[in-house]
Amino acid sequence: MAFKILVLLSLLSVLLLPCISAEEEVVTCSGIVPMRGRAEVISITDFGGVGDGRTLNTAAFREAIYRIGHLRRRGGSLLYVPAGVWLTGSFNLTSHMTLYLAKGAVIKATQDVSEWLLIQPLPSYGRGRELPGGRYMSLIHGNGLHDVIITGENGTIDGQGDVWWNMWRQRTLPFTRPNLVEFMHSRDILISNVVFQNSPFWNIHPVYCSNVVVRNVTILAPHDSPNTDGIDPDSSLNVCIEDSYISTGDDLVAVKSGWDEYGIAYGRPSSSITVRRVTGSSPFAGIAIGSEMSGGVENVLVENLNIYNTGIGIHIKTNTGRGGYIKNVTISDVYLNKVAKGLRIAGDVGDHPDDMFNPTALPVVDAVMIKNVWGEDVLQPGSIQGIKNSPFTRICLSNVKLFSDKEQPWKCMDVSGAALGVQPSPCTELASTYDVSFCANAV
Ligand SMILES: *[C@@H]1O[C@H](CO)[C@@H](O)[C@H](O)[C@H]1NC(C)=O
Ligand SMILES: *[C@@H]1O[C@H](CO)[C@@H](O)[C@H](O)[C@H]1NC(C)=O
Ligand SMILES: *[C@@H]1O[C@H](CO)[C@@H](O)[C@H](O)[C@H]1NC(C)=O
Ligand SMILES: *[C@@H]1O[C@H](CO)[C@@H](O)[C@H](O)[C@H]1NC(C)=O
Repeated sequence: MAFKILVLLSLLSVLLLPCISAEEEVVTCSGIVPMRGRAEVISITDFGGVGDGRTLNTAAFREAIYRIGHLRRRGGSLLYVPAGVWLTGSFNLTSHMTLYLAKGAVIKATQDVSEWLLIQPLPSYGRGRELPGGRYMSLIHGNGLHDVIITGENGTIDGQGDVWWNMWRQRTLPFTRPNLVEFMHSRDILISNVVFQNSPFWNIHPVYCSNVVVRNVTILAPHDSPNTDGIDPDSSLNVCIEDSYISTGDDLVAVKSGWDEYGIAYGRPSSSITVRRVTGSSPFAGIAIGSEMSGGVENVLVENLNIYNTGIGIHIKTNTGRGGYIKNVTISDVYLNKVAKGLRIAGDVGDHPDDMFNPTALPVVDAVMIKNVWGEDVLQPGSIQGIKNSPFTRICLSNVKLFSDKEQPWKCMDVSGAALGVQPSPCTELASTYDVSFCANAV
């Protein structure tokens, strides 16, 4: 009964708060890349495109975008994809363009693997993420671009990933699977009002980018599809992810920055990353940082998540040999329902690219604030297990309430920090810290 009242009170406060501040605008960071119109509109049908679901449109997409890139109309060009099913192999975008998916438009990836280009591995990974050597280029790709928008009226980009998932399951993949959308070395990118589904691998991957906004998108893949992460900001600056629904087979959002010795050498951090108002479900994590974080991850703000039917609510993961750091992370106002583990911060997660990693390259995890978390049906509250010679420091849990039928304890090791208003009662490593000011100030 007391529990029900608590739930009711917390719901009431959630409902009432917006009313109190109804005059104020909803907080958003999407302004860093505003929506803009284009001077010219061309349609994929002008380039011989046929939206019958059978005709291959790779040449039509490549020609249309080649034209935009070479004519360079002042004010940019919009490539209109009308209702229909547009089967295609992978293609590159160009600067100053909008890819617009009308209502009922589906850009569908071909399942003919020979239509997918192989490209170089990312320097910060040293090899394909799954297999040595190159990797397949994403269905929709951008390299060295600026001012690109992918938007529309809830049209769909469908990776038809099951052929790739099956190759992964049968261990017959020749190279690392393709992402659905990837931008490299690009800036001022906006992705909104589109549905992504059944990606072969990660869905949206901005890497070595700055000023990237992903908002109001839906990302869907079956819970048993391998490695179908939702959005993975990687070695990127100023990324804002808002107002989206994600349900996939792996982490909904995972902030990364390269892998072991390659990531350390490349040295490109992920910084100023905002994630807010994301709802979804996954067998892995709601919000993740790592495990590839060798270029460093800092200044991360995550708020207002709604995570249900999920493996781990919040997962911060790294490993020996990674080097790098995870610091100044704030995660607040998270609602969890039916999750196996509320929070996990761990120093022993993920594999290595090869035997050349440096076992003395220890990652630093410092100043992680986790506050206002409310969980129901949480099997285990969680664990914080640092690294013996690099304990995690200034880990602050404040107002974290995780409920379950049978209460399990927290597990902690090689960590220091503070816990205020944590239920079930926090582990002694956090409870015994005498200086809690850094944590109290966080509230
Ligand atoms: C697309 O970009 C990739 C790498 O960024 C490049 O290797 C490839 O040649 C480009 N393809 C076309 C058709 O321009
Ligand atoms: C979100 O996207 C849908 C279509 O996908 C659109 O109808 C709606 O207006 C968008 N909302 C905002 C705030 O952009
Ligand atoms: C967009 O499509 C997705 C997937 O079909 C659907 O769940 C969502 O409700 C749609 N959004 C709008 C605004 O129509
Ligand atoms: C910590 O990160 C936040 C963004 O979450 C940023 O506003 C703040 O300036 C950062 N603090 C420091 C000391 O860098």
